Amino acid sequence: MITSRGINGPNVMTAEWVMQISYQPMLIGAFIHEGSKTLKNIEKTKEFGINVASQKQTTAVNIAGGYSGIELDKLKIKSIFKFVKPQKIKTPLISGCTINAECKLVRKQKLGDHIMIVGKVVDIRHDDSKNPLIYHRGRYFGLGSTIEQDRVEVNVSEDMLEYFKNIAHEKFVVKCVGVIVESKNKILVISKSKTALNMIPFSIPPPGANQRDHLIEFLKHTGLEIQVSDIPIMKRLILKNGKNIQRINFVLFQGKNQKSTKVMKWTHSINDNLISTLI
Ligand SMILES: Cc1cc2nc3c(=O)[nH]c(=O)nc-3n(C[C@H](O)[C@H](O)[C@H](O)COP(=O)(O)O)c2cc1C
Repeated sequence: MITSRGINGPNVMTAEWVMQISYQPMLIGAFIHEGSKTLKNIEKTKEFGINVASQKQTTAVNIAGGYSGIELDKLKIKSIFKFVKPQKIKTPLISGCTINAECKLVRKQKLGDHIMIVGKVVDIRHDDSKNPLIYHRGRYFGLGSTIEQDRVEVNVSEDMLEYFKNIAHEKFVVKCVGVIVESKNKILVISKSKTALNMIPFSIPPPGANQRDHLIEFLKHTGLEIQVSDIPIMKRLILKNGKNIQRINFVLFQGKNQKSTKVMKWTHSINDNLISTLI
């Protein structure tokens, strides 16, 4: 709900086309139609309030969106709206919302049949105890259950899990890039130093690095002459040992071995849960 202030006092309108568009400075964009009283108010005062409705505010949202301030003084309707005092602007905020943001107008632009208004947030409050009201296909909803991500679970040894947990450095997901080289029903692996674990050749690229370029560099560095395909395969896994887990992404490329070296071994993939999931 966007609150604004005009010569006849404050007003509120409902808007679904509202979103945060910058962190620093914090900016919020809203798209409102030219006929609204809200736009006229904001053009005059250069400020507005963004009040993110909570699940108990369907009546307020319907009224703020169903009537114009030209037709009715919505904020004066008995027992619907309560106010929170603003800190940095003069426009009132609506009580009972999940977020109240006080905004100063920094940009106004006509885009298609709506006007974009961008507000710099000069004060913001968040009420953790309330959940936002969701508007979808003309109806109101509450927040639903968490959607579990589609990751394949792989049971691995304690050592293997420990190994990946160590390289994860407590990251929620480890992002690896690796190469699958198969020959005569066997797969190329290298031994991870300091452990007896065999794994396909893989590495963790730094953020922003191109995954395939990083893999090629890594293979060169390791002394492996492998020709890498250019079609990535994505495997999203949860490594599990008892209750211990580690989420891991593998971007994989098929590879062709050019020359055997000392670091290589060939293994039957069937003997290893993780490797057989990767290929
Ligand atoms: C759920 C809902 C979402 C709405 N979203 C928008 C929106 O994003 N932009 C807009 O211009 N109008 C939107 N409206 C319509 C305005 O709220 C409506 O035109 C209102 O009467 C304008 O009030 P005002 O003239 O007092 O400013 C929405 C209405 C509802 C019910």
